[in-house]
Amino acid sequence: MKLLHPLSGVALRKIQIEDRERLAHLANNPNVANNLLDDFPHPYSIEDADQFIKHAQAASPTLRFCIEKDGEYVGNIGLHPKEDVYKRSAEIGYFIGEEHWGQGIATHAVQLIVAYGFEQLDIHRIYAGVFSYNSASKKVLEKAGFDFEGASKEAIYKNGQLYDELRFAILNPNH
Ligand SMILES: CC(C)(COP(=O)(O)OP(=O)(O)OC[C@H]1O[C@@H](n2cnc3c(N)ncnc32)[C@H](O)[C@@H]1OP(=O)(O)O)[C@@H](O)C(=O)NCCC(=O)NCCS
Repeated sequence: MKLLHPLSGVALRKIQIEDRERLAHLANNPNVANNLLDDFPHPYSIEDADQFIKHAQAASPTLRFCIEKDGEYVGNIGLHPKEDVYKRSAEIGYFIGEEHWGQGIATHAVQLIVAYGFEQLDIHRIYAGVFSYNSASKKVLEKAGFDFEGASKEAIYKNGQLYDELRFAILNPNH
């Protein structure tokens, strides 16, 4: 399965075990890890990549994708569907390798996975929790059509400091 963004050269595809070294290279960066959950390993080893790939491959339907730009693997994006009364909601997560920042890749990847979630997975609401200092990610979500819903004050404890979490969400207009 490949999800293609018209004209931009951005695509989403399933992750393969052959991606392990490239994933570790893209992910092993404090400028990436500082914007993500502490669950995201730092440093990021090949063994961490193996574990992620196994986990991603076990899910059906596919929820975690490689992001490609002109056929090159440049980042990851995923949806995390919630449970119980939140079952029509999913949290989105993504990163791009730093050498590929600033080319609109994340924005196009977010648009692709939102369309996939709404059209293929019966999801009604997709949301993100952005650390208050992450201006690039706020911009990505706004460009992709997400609305700012509010701040959870000092909800984030990252690298020994408290930060607000900014909630962004987009709703499925069709169902
Ligand atoms: C956030 C991230 C995914 C953005 O990827 P990207 O491919 O560079 O994003 P895009 O190019 O689509 O858009 C980034 C926008 O932010 C802007 N931007 C970047 N740094 C910025 C800053 N410090 N202040 C304000 N805007 C900034 C860019 O100019 C661009 O906007 P523009 O198109 O209007 O010029 C990438 O920086 C990343 O992987 N960061 C680490 C992981 C992360 O933050 N994940 C998301 C967690 S919520």
